[in-house]
Amino acid sequence: MATKCIITGVPGVGKTTVITGALTKLEEMGVHYANISFGSFMFETALAEELVRNRDEMRLLGKDDQKSLQRKAASAIATIDGNVIVDTHASVKTPKGYLPGLPEWVLEALMPDLFVLIETDEDQILGRRLGDPSRVRDMDSYRALASHQSFNRAIAAAYAMKTGCTVAIVTNADLLLDRAIDDLAGLLE
Ligand code: AP5
Repeated sequence: MATKCIITGVPGVGKTTVITGALTKLEEMGVHYANISFGSFMFETALAEELVRNRDEMRLLGKDDQKSLQRKAASAIATIDGNVIVDTHASVKTPKGYLPGLPEWVLEALMPDLFVLIETDEDQILGRRLGDPSRVRDMDSYRALASHQSFNRAIAAAYAMKTGCTVAIVTNADLLLDRAIDDLAGLLE
């Protein structure tokens, strides 16, 4: 039976790095997943509609624009068959507060079996954001990052209540990337 897995983590936690490693490992084991970036689906539409110039501007858009982009991405992704990973955000930090990454209509379209939160210590996240000149990352305080990670756990519980999916936490600590990759691959095999 096909598995639909949603993978989330605050920006800079290393979500894409861990997913890429786990998918390589799974391919070696003969297990295939389509790897879908929810943000890329949103970004393509936002670019076509001339709403943004880069992906980091999307979280600054008004909530109605963000919701409209979410809706379009969810309905396109819902048509993909087989094992699917959706790389996205449990919540997005906007200037007006946290926006649910998976409001009801997005959850209903995706109906995940498994919801993964990738986490690590806040000082490590900040260090990774500072070390990534290719992006326009928010420079949050330790406390703000802790608050965001904690909000994401709370909202993941709400998503599980709505869909019956399981929720797993994968820790991606400095120097322990291989362990995070093994943990994620173990959840998906
Ligand atoms: P998205 O495309 O998901 O981008 P992102 O949040 O910036 O996340 P990345 O994919 O870049 O991954 P990452 O930052 O976790 O980590 P990375 O692997 O690069 O989203 C883009 C935008 O789309 C969002 O801002 C939002 O506006 C929108 N969006 C998406 N989903 C949405 C939704 N559902 N609703 C509304 N809007 C949505 O790694 C970072 C750095 O850490 C790298 O330098 C890496 O080398 C390093 N690193 C990783 N692991 C380790 C380790 N173990 N030790 C040391 N360094 C490490």
